[in-house]
Amino acid sequence: MTTQAKGGRAHNDSVPTVLVINGPNLNLLGTREPEIYGHTTLEDINRQLIALGTELGIRVESFQSNSEGALVDRIQQARGIIDLIIINPAAYTHTSIAIRDALIAIEVPVIEVHLSNVYKREPFRHHSTIADIVDARLMGFGAEGYLLALRAAARMIETQREKHRGTKEAR
Ligand code: DQA
Repeated sequence: MTTQAKGGRAHNDSVPTVLVINGPNLNLLGTREPEIYGHTTLEDINRQLIALGTELGIRVESFQSNSEGALVDRIQQARGIIDLIIINPAAYTHTSIAIRDALIAIEVPVIEVHLSNVYKREPFRHHSTIADIVDARLMGFGAEGYLLALRAAARMIETQREKHRGTKEAR
């Protein structure tokens, strides 16, 4: 039986799956304000994530939407299936209670990523509706941040699985 506590499928021995979610306007990466967000496209980032995932033994799924409801739907679908979510909610970071509630509901570990250091920018970007419910946050590394987050995700999933193995043996 697979337990459904926080960690999605992290409690069994299947290939770990990480879901990378990107919010509005991130489909324009590469051409959108390159002085802030860089020249790397979202397609390039996703390709690099899949390649790194292969190296780390992790299956990477990617999802981008400009619409809040579609993001909430995708988050809900991750319950019990995905081991960890890496999310850049983009502008919804600063406004969305719906994304916050969805992330809490599914009980899957979350890493919040931003390309820019939001604290060096306008004050309205300093507030994140998910900062206090995610497991880790990473910002200011540009496109590289997603790859750093995936490396961290691999360690987090491994730790989770080891903990579960330990609990099972102690029974
Ligand atoms: C962003 C920062 C947000 O303030 C902004 O709305 C974005 C991108 C980032 O990755 O730096 O769209 O999340």
